[in-house]
Amino acid sequence: MKYEYNKKPELYTPIMMRIISKRDLTPDVRFFQLVPKEEYKHLDMDYKPGQFMMLSLFGTGEAPFSISSSPTRKGIFEFAIRKTGKLTDKIFELKDGDMLGLRGPFGNGFPIEKMLGKDIIIVAGGLGAAPLRSLLLYILDNRELFGRLIYLYGAKNVDDMLYKPDFVEMLDSDQIELFLTVDKGNEGYEDSIEEGKVTHLFKYITDIDPANTIACVCGPPIMYKFVVKEILKYNLEKDKILLNLERRMKCGCGKCGHCIIDYRYTCIDGPVFTYWDVIHMRELI
Ligand SMILES: Cc1cc2nc3c(=O)[nH]c(=O)nc-3n(C[C@H](O)[C@H](O)[C@H](O)COP(=O)(O)OP(=O)(O)OC[C@H]3O[C@@H](n4cnc5c(N)ncnc54)[C@H](O)[C@@H]3O)c2cc1C
Ligand code: FES
Repeated sequence: MKYEYNKKPELYTPIMMRIISKRDLTPDVRFFQLVPKEEYKHLDMDYKPGQFMMLSLFGTGEAPFSISSSPTRKGIFEFAIRKTGKLTDKIFELKDGDMLGLRGPFGNGFPIEKMLGKDIIIVAGGLGAAPLRSLLLYILDNRELFGRLIYLYGAKNVDDMLYKPDFVEMLDSDQIELFLTVDKGNEGYEDSIEEGKVTHLFKYITDIDPANTIACVCGPPIMYKFVVKEILKYNLEKDKILLNLERRMKCGCGKCGHCIIDYRYTCIDGPVFTYWDVIHMRELI
């Protein structure tokens, strides 16, 4: 059965998901694997890399979280959640087998159709590796459909690096040109993780064909300006630079107006915007 999310009442009614496993990625970010409760298992819950879900706990609240898994790996939904407030504090208290509400998928996600056949540069900062993991796994699972895959990831320190063992293992892969850095303190990882901001990794990225390359960026707000400046040096057109941006949201589906900037709903028109969109919108980066 096709799960049509923009049809009422599904739009506002969470379906229940069971936690099947969890592990700490960093001291304050936990990875959760969720599967639909038995009665929802027949639903075909498709999504795109870059989309988000509204996760809820009855009596506590609801918030948007990027989907960190890939639609190529069906049946399981993965999230990397930072403990930061009322809802996430409670989510961190949950055990395997406990339930979470889920609405979605919401947002536009990455325009995969336009990315096919292209060289892809992914630039992640901190928790930005959560939504970009969905895109990364999607490309790795469909490797023949894309050109070069370049991934630059920067975190504050090695303890704050999401999916660190996976990334360190991927450094030897011929499927991806991967470069890792931390702001400070790469002790124990000198051979695999550099020291310095993520912008410092662009020196390794050469021979970019601007007509055939799309860049995808997600990270803390401060990062965008500096990363975009580096990407523009490769002469990429502004609509080939995709920025995954977060804004405070309530409904997630274009009804409440909480996320509006100028005339755009960041929950529907985003969270993925082109740099062209962004320079025409107030206060986005
Ligand atoms: C599209 C999207 C995707 C996201 N993906 C992820 C993800 O993958 N992982 C993840 O961990 N987070 C993600 N977030 C962020 C997450 O939704 C928020 O951190 C959420 O608010 C956490 O809820 P909470 O109740 O635990 O924290 P809150 O109580 O909402 O507090 C969160 C932070 O916001 C501050 N805050 C609270 N209210 C306000 C306010 N009115 N104005 C300004 N600041 C305020 C608090 O001080 C605190 O620092 C995403 C957000 C968006 C919009
Ligand atoms: S979050 Fe309600 S309109 Fe965007």
